[in-house]
Amino acid sequence: MSRRRFFDRHAPAWDSEETARREVDLQRVVDEADLRQGDCVLDVGTGTGVLLSHILRRIGPEGRLLAVDISRAMLSQARRKAGRRNVVFVEADVHHLCTREARFDRVICNAAFPHFEDRELGLREMVRALRPAGILVISHPIGREAVNARHREAGGPVGEDRVPPPLAMSQLLSQVGLQDIAIIDQPEFYLARAQRPT
Ligand SMILES: C[S@@+](CC[C@H](N)C(=O)[O-])C[C@H]1O[C@@H](n2cnc3c(N)ncnc32)[C@H](O)[C@@H]1O
Repeated sequence: MSRRRFFDRHAPAWDSEETARREVDLQRVVDEADLRQGDCVLDVGTGTGVLLSHILRRIGPEGRLLAVDISRAMLSQARRKAGRRNVVFVEADVHHLCTREARFDRVICNAAFPHFEDRELGLREMVRALRPAGILVISHPIGREAVNARHREAGGPVGEDRVPPPLAMSQLLSQVGLQDIAIIDQPEFYLARAQRPT
């Protein structure tokens, strides 16, 4: 089974499997992304759209949000949450993002990075989408080990998907030209943040 089919299958029950801590942790992700009113944001692997309300609150009515995912079923769950606010949904693969170069102030990739088949290519696409001085955030609010354990348990197409440890992630981010790299690798929270040079 492909990853796309895996996520299509899990989409309807996805939100009911999440923990009560999730909203606090998602808020922390958005805090670390340092969003400002009016920002243009790309949410890669948006899934059922768990981050949308947090992002939209921060960027306000003048902000713009593009939410992309490879799974149509995940996107249709997300669409229900966002209503008709300033968010656009696109079915797309991170390896071939359909966006103009240097368009976004922030690119956020929450709980999706380990699933990318070619991580360097996925990163290059996300960096391409960032404006100079824009910030990329890759996060796993339940922590690296917990994510890896979940994937091992789920097996199938995601069974081997792993969150890179800090040194490996840091190397990947600098390889694609990012700077000011900072990684939080706490037992219950993982987040990598880096900036596109000006
Ligand atoms: C674990 S879910 C997380 C979704 C959401 N960001 C969240 O925090 O709940 C991972 C998502 O990444 C998407 N995904 C996996 N590979 C992808 C790719 N190559 N391009 C775009 N999205 C992808 C999946 O379809 C799925 O919706």
